[in-house]
Amino acid sequence: MRDMQITVAGHLCLDIIPEWQTGTLAALQPGRMVHMEGVTFSTGGAVANTGIALKRLGFDPVLIGRTGDDPVGDIIRNLLRREDINPDYIALSPGETSSYTVVLNPPDTDRIFLHYPGTNDSFSVQDLDFGAIPPGIVHFGYPPLMRQMYIEQGAQLENFFKTAKAHGLITSLDMALPDPSSEQGKVDWKAILQRVLSFVDLFLPSIDELLFMMDSSAYDKVQQGFSRLDTSLLDDLSSTVLGWGAKAVGIKLGEEGLFLRTGAEAGATFGASWRNRHILAPIFRVPVQGTTGAGDTTIAGFLAGVALDKTPEQVLTLATAVGAFCVEAISSVAGVPHLQRVEERIDRGWERMQPTIINDSWRLGQSGVFLGPADCSELN
Ligand SMILES: Nc1ncnc2c1ncn2[C@@H]1O[C@H](COP(=O)(O)OP(=O)(O)OP(=O)(O)O)[C@@H](O)[C@H]1O
Ligand SMILES: [Mg+2]
Repeated sequence: MRDMQITVAGHLCLDIIPEWQTGTLAALQPGRMVHMEGVTFSTGGAVANTGIALKRLGFDPVLIGRTGDDPVGDIIRNLLRREDINPDYIALSPGETSSYTVVLNPPDTDRIFLHYPGTNDSFSVQDLDFGAIPPGIVHFGYPPLMRQMYIEQGAQLENFFKTAKAHGLITSLDMALPDPSSEQGKVDWKAILQRVLSFVDLFLPSIDELLFMMDSSAYDKVQQGFSRLDTSLLDDLSSTVLGWGAKAVGIKLGEEGLFLRTGAEAGATFGASWRNRHILAPIFRVPVQGTTGAGDTTIAGFLAGVALDKTPEQVLTLATAVGAFCVEAISSVAGVPHLQRVEERIDRGWERMQPTIINDSWRLGQSGVFLGPADCSELN
């Protein structure tokens, strides 16, 4: 069995969450003091979330990101050390301020985020020493929140993946939803994906992000409730990105589960069982406490399965199970247990929910995932 090293690169920040128990948002007025009960500091971003989830699953990931040489950066490093993760691969930028988010969570309304992009915007591929990345998988998370990655039509992002492939790494990419009114929302994401995906083995966006980037009018229609997500939309989107060179695309669908489509070439990278697959893994039933970090922890489960040379059915099962452990806890990564406990719960017959988006051309495979009409499995 191959047991590969996993490296997680990209967006990293500190979340500062004052405990706001009484009073309302209206209390925020010039000159007034608003009483808080306490404060939580927690690492955020793809690097910390996927990295810590992998550590909790029992892996030893390498984390690559960038912070300033400042108190916020010190806290980020210390929080990672508390998880027994070595922060030494995270670049230090003297004189720069680290990225942080203040999460205002007043009892009377939805959360408000005060976000400073800081060193995520200056993270540069030129700073990376690819020779120091251990052989195995390298995952990059949230380029839409990292300015150097989307300016100049994504030249640095392409450079990242091209160089990773030249070093023999298996590459993986997750997105974030750009704010449509900001600079990152106005870049031509479709063109960026088109140039980058031929160097990406695993493309793991959420449906919102993929639709926003590929077809903004379809995205608006789904958002406004005029059109509904269905498998033919997933088929169209996945065929396009496979056509641009991604070896496998996994689309995160929230409560509808996790969709996977692979091409013929996926076999050479991931093993014969990965060739020409068309699968939808339903979610596992859990009482939902908080969905923050669901995407990142699901990716940790996915990468863990790939590193352990598992079949697509097993990888999707593991990924959706780790995502379910995440949403069952309030904190983003605290609910993720060791891989062995995840597998034990699956083996004990953990109930799965029926997806609503599939039609009669899909059938339930023995492994508990649904197989689409284009699926070419010899095993099911
Ligand atoms: N209510 C739920 N119950 C069980 N599992 C869930 C639930 N919601 C999400 N998941 C699992 O978590 C995975 C990732 O969630 P989602 O599709 O929301 O990702 P995302 O949009 O990238 O999330 P994030 O907001 O964390 O970036 C889903 O594919 C699913 O398997
Ligand atoms: Mg996400």
